[in-house]
Amino acid sequence: MAQLLITGGAGFIGSHTCLVLLEAGHNLVLIENFSNSSPEALRRVLELAGPKAKSRIQIVEGDIRNSDDLDCAFSIASSPIEAVVHFAGLKAVAESFEDPLDYWDVNLGGSRSLLNAMRIHGCRTIVFSSSATIYGYPNEVPISENALVSPINPYGQTKAAVEQLLADVAASEPGWKIARLRYFNPVGAHPSGLLGEAPHGTPANLFPYVSQVAVGRRDKVEIFGGDWPTSDGSAVRDYIHVMDLAEGHSAALNVLQQEAPQVLTLNLGSGRGYSVLEVVKAFEKASQKKLPYIITSRRKGDVACSVADPDLALKRLGWSTRRGLEDMCKDSWTWQMANPDGYSVEIQSLI
Ligand code: UD1
Repeated sequence: MAQLLITGGAGFIGSHTCLVLLEAGHNLVLIENFSNSSPEALRRVLELAGPKAKSRIQIVEGDIRNSDDLDCAFSIASSPIEAVVHFAGLKAVAESFEDPLDYWDVNLGGSRSLLNAMRIHGCRTIVFSSSATIYGYPNEVPISENALVSPINPYGQTKAAVEQLLADVAASEPGWKIARLRYFNPVGAHPSGLLGEAPHGTPANLFPYVSQVAVGRRDKVEIFGGDWPTSDGSAVRDYIHVMDLAEGHSAALNVLQQEAPQVLTLNLGSGRGYSVLEVVKAFEKASQKKLPYIITSRRKGDVACSVADPDLALKRLGWSTRRGLEDMCKDSWTWQMANPDGYSVEIQSLI
């Protein structure tokens, strides 16, 4: 049991991880600016975590780029923050081409100011949300942690830069315990249907888009590219259920707490790839709906195939994914049906 600080805890991965961490007995302080998330997600985390959880979570509405907000977050709990789980950041590849300044500011600037606050407040343990996008066009699949880091979009550049910053900080002073977790494609939802992915506006990612077609909010799925060098011509990804991912964070935190200072760099993926067409078919089965689709041109910045070598995570954390594509589709569908408008953000903005 530890006192933790979570940045971006109301987001898709953050909210599921907060639940898992509360269930593991940790006390949480959250710093959240709700720029791409909803307070409703946190209300539901508390609903799922049970009546006693409310006294174990404190929320600071603030920004990780603001040192006063960070000071408040580090000081609000009755005991010192022992470790940080750092989710806060911008994450849309296409948007990062349009607005690189924002991406560098929030992702790198925010991480820099967070690390500075950690130094001031004597906290030296951090789990960081990195991304498989930093591998760019992989030379080899499955991708191991030793593969070349060579991002091909500004979003990936910012993630790679924060990874480097973390390594530099660890080298500058003894005592840092750092996990850099490279997520593959997080999807799915909590099986209750209470927590899930609620993108603002048109979804940029495959799963939320497909769910919105299944629920009737959109006409058809557009499959970006039918001429990739894969078995059916559509691109292949390693999809990971968000609950598996959340449990991976909990496992990484335990290892950092128990072991000597280190920089632990791990892929979090299943090791199994599925094509876009396979995802559409699996979602049709889960939703019992026919999903119209068309094949269009490739999307800028996409790669043919991205699949993790998950062996090191198993070896170091004793963790591997437990949920398959069927669970991912079933849980996404349960969430989508129960929350056709996400956390009703659109409805609030109409009032
Ligand atoms: C990328 C990153 C991932 C990151 C995520 C954040 C890579 C290899 N992966 O995921 O690490 O966490 O961005 O946003 O860079 N697709 C369609 N139609 C759609 C939407 C997507 O065909 O409407 C296809 C894409 O072309 C891709 C696959 O579905 O082949 C998955 O796309 P998406 O869900 O957007 O994730 P990635 O771009 O793979």
